[in-house]
Amino acid sequence: MRIIPNTAAMQKCALQWKRGGVRVGFVPTMGYLHEGHLSLVHEARKRVGKNGKVVVSIYVNPTQFAPTEDLAKYPRDLKRDLKLCRDAGVDVVFMPSDAEMYPGKTPARGDARPTNFSTYVVEEKLSRTMEGAARPTHFRGVTTVVAKLFNLVLPDVAVFGQKDFQQAAIIKRMVADLNFPVKIIVAPTLREPDGLAMSSRNKFLDAEQRAQAVILFHALRAASLAVKPKPASAARLKADLEEFITAVPLARLDYVEFIDPKTLAPVAQVKRGTQMALAVFVGKTRLIDNARL
Ligand code: PAJ
Repeated sequence: MRIIPNTAAMQKCALQWKRGGVRVGFVPTMGYLHEGHLSLVHEARKRVGKNGKVVVSIYVNPTQFAPTEDLAKYPRDLKRDLKLCRDAGVDVVFMPSDAEMYPGKTPARGDARPTNFSTYVVEEKLSRTMEGAARPTHFRGVTTVVAKLFNLVLPDVAVFGQKDFQQAAIIKRMVADLNFPVKIIVAPTLREPDGLAMSSRNKFLDAEQRAQAVILFHALRAASLAVKPKPASAARLKADLEEFITAVPLARLDYVEFIDPKTLAPVAQVKRGTQMALAVFVGKTRLIDNARL
C-alpha cells in the first residue's frame, strides 16, 4: 500500500493509471475509519476488480465545518486507519495536508477563507434543506473538496454511504451538472448490533449517551411501522416523533423530515417508500440517520 501525502504526486499517479487503462475506485473519507467506511472500500474493489486500483482519501476537510462545529475535536487515529486500509487491500491512501488542499493561510474554521484559494463549487437546490439548513456552509465545503479530490484521483467509480444520503444526492447532482467522468455508487448504511448507524462521531458518546443514541434507529422503525398499514400526514408523524424522542432524557431533536427519495422535496403524506431523515443531539453530539420507510 502506498501513502501519498501531496496533491501533485497523487495526480501524477492517477494520470499514469489512466494512460495504462487501469480502472480506479475511490472512497473519500475524513478518517477515523469504521466498518461502514470499509464496506465502501470493499464495494470499490468489487467495482474495479483485482487489476484495478482502490484509493481511500483521509482528509478532515476544514471548509465543511462551521466556526461553531467540532473541526479541532474531530477524532483522528491515523495509525489505526492505515492498518485498516492495508488489511482491506487498499492500493493508495491519499492524505493531503491543509496547506496542499487550501494554499495560503490554513483555514482554522469553516468560514475563514484560505488566503490563496477562492473557487468554490456550490450546489443550489438539494443543499438547502435538512443538513444544509442546519449547517448552511457545510455542503459548499463538501462539493468543493470532493470536486478537488475527483480531479486529483481521477476515479472511474466513487463510493459514498447512504448514511449521508443528502450528501450522496448532492454529489450525484454535481457530477451530472459538471460532467465529471465518474460513476457514483451509494452503499447501504452499516449499523451496530442494536441498530445505531456506525459513525466516527459515536466515539464522543459516553456509556449512557451511547445507550440512548439508539433512539434514532427506533424513530425510523416506529415511523416505518406507522405507515405500513396506510399513509399518514407528515405533520402528525413529525409531532409524534418529536414527543417520542423528547421522552429520551439525553436526546434533543434537531429535525425530522419526510421527503421524496429522488427529488428530496418534502411530502405532505408519508407512505411506504417515503424517505425519512433525522438529526438528533445526544448530549452535545449531533447524530444523523435516514431510511426508506
Ligand atoms: P466521512 O464522514 O468520513 O464518511 C466517508 C464516507 O463513509 C461517506 O460516504 C459516508 O456516507 C460513509 N459512511 C459513514 N458512515 C457509514 C455507515 N455507517 N455505513 C456506510 N457508509 C458510511 O462524508 C464524509 O466523510 C465527508 O463529507 C467527505 C465525503 C469525505 C468529504 O469531506
